[in-house]
Amino acid sequence: MRGSLVLAGLFVSASVFAQTPSPQERLKEISADPVALRAAVDAGKRVTFFCANCHGDDGISKTPDVPNLAGQNPAYLLEQIRKFGAGERKDPFMQGLIKVLKDEERVQVAHYYASKTVPPSKGNPALIPHGKELFTKLCVRCHGENARGGDLYARLAGQKVPYLQVTIQRYRDGTGIRNNQLMAIATAPLKNDDITAIANYLTQLP
Ligand code: HEC
Ligand code: HEC
Repeated sequence: MRGSLVLAGLFVSASVFAQTPSPQERLKEISADPVALRAAVDAGKRVTFFCANCHGDDGISKTPDVPNLAGQNPAYLLEQIRKFGAGERKDPFMQGLIKVLKDEERVQVAHYYASKTVPPSKGNPALIPHGKELFTKLCVRCHGENARGGDLYARLAGQKVPYLQVTIQRYRDGTGIRNNQLMAIATAPLKNDDITAIANYLTQLP
């Protein structure tokens, strides 16, 4: 009798556990509910009070090597936050900071930044045609025609040139700071000048 009660208890806790949505599932749940989305965006704004020091008030960064987060795909933001937390993406500051965020706060942060819009920046007109040609050949099939990405593919349109340059080089050079097999393959043929051209093309896209 006692044994079966314990067993029943185990079943109950196991099923409760199984029903807890993952952060990515929770993100989608909230996206489908306009009232919940509004609340998540508002909560996210409060959580990101400290992040604004580097990423800017509305996710538009003031520093060249800090990425804009505004307009980024929410699932992508959440996945990068997970990667920092798990040590799969390296940045000493971000890794430490992300550890203090609870799962629900991570979801709120992602919705908050995704709800903002990122303005295009100026690209060097002399480099844009070459950048466009390379992007169309090597990148468009994942990041999309307008470089807006989708789900786990990053939005690149409107991103900062220096951040794009450094990031693309990290994937290509296999430094271990950014790890992704698909990106390692896609960037392998690029010279530094090619990367600069692509970055100048991407930054001026709306
Ligand atoms: C001291 C400056 C600083 C602060 C404060 C900061 N970040 Fe960052 N963040 C960075 C830098 C630098 C990077 C880029 C790291 C790299 O080169 O990969 C980054 C990258 C990110 C990325 C990845 C974006 C992408 O396009 O891949 C996310 C998401 C992010 N930060 C979220 C946050 C959140 C949420 C907070 C607040 C809880 C925060 N950051 C606070 C400096 C900061
Ligand atoms: C086969 C699909 C694929 C192709 C092709 C591809 N990418 Fe990516 N890209 C990804 C994925 C997946 C990620 C997320 C990787 C991660 O988690 O670090 C990514 C991330 C990035 C990032 C990081 C964005 C950020 O803010 O964190 C940049 C920059 C980027 N890609 C540029 C490019 C460029 C430039 C090309 C063409 C030379 C390209 N990608 C081709 C799939 C692809």
